[in-house]
Amino acid sequence: MVKFVNVGVSFTGGYQALNNVNIEIKSGEFVYIIGKSGAGKSTFLRLIYADLLPTRGVISVEGRDLNLMKRIEVPFLRRQIGVIFQDYKLLENLSVFDNVKLGLDIFYMKRTQAKERIWPLLKRVGMFEKRDDIVKNLSGGEKQRVAVARALINDPKIILADEPTGNLDMENAENIMTVLRECIATGATVIMATHDKLLREKYPSREIELEKGKVIKDGAAYEL
Ligand SMILES: Nc1ncnc2c1ncn2[C@@H]1O[C@H](COP(=O)(O)OP(=O)(O)OP(=O)(O)O)[C@@H](O)[C@H]1O
Ligand SMILES: [Mg+2]
Repeated sequence: MVKFVNVGVSFTGGYQALNNVNIEIKSGEFVYIIGKSGAGKSTFLRLIYADLLPTRGVISVEGRDLNLMKRIEVPFLRRQIGVIFQDYKLLENLSVFDNVKLGLDIFYMKRTQAKERIWPLLKRVGMFEKRDDIVKNLSGGEKQRVAVARALINDPKIILADEPTGNLDMENAENIMTVLRECIATGATVIMATHDKLLREKYPSREIELEKGKVIKDGAAYEL
């Protein structure tokens, strides 16, 4: 579960990126975070994986109060979270396969053993044929799909997806949505920031709308 109580974030200079946010997201939910560019969506996601501490308020993730968490505990929290970054954060000089392998927390895993986990996932995101290509040679949409595979390789309990379909055509976007929704079926929670209205209409779910750092709407936009 992810819970925000009176959460605020101010950046140096005093800019309030988030303001009095109160939110509860239960395990197994699929939630969209929507709002204009600059509304605070990425900031909201950064708080959940403890990349940023709130200036005010309390955040708990899977029962841990992030304000009280020691630095040494952060990797344990992050092991339960898969993040699909808006700018991918892939290692450009490594292959597709090796980038996904970095997402596995068992680094000493034999290559053949790793293959058994990585290959099926690369097939699901449509990147199996390019598994040995170097990431820097891939298109934006291909990189995005590698980023999805890396985030999911550890079967995380919480998946934070920051515009995971931003660079994809409709067919690939729908495929990624299917992959993310399958994660829900196994009990994971998905929190996805998106601008894509067509996808939200096609796969309706709870929407949390931010405007200038405030929650202005929270609820199911459409009846399921
Ligand atoms: N480290 C920072 N220092 C100062 N201001 C920041 C910092 N990070 C974000 N901001 C500001 O906070 C606001 C919210 O940023 P955020 O990245 O969360 O928006 P967003 O909703 O994800 O936008 P987009 O849809 O463009 O990705 C923006 O105005 C941004 O300029
Ligand atoms: Mg953003």
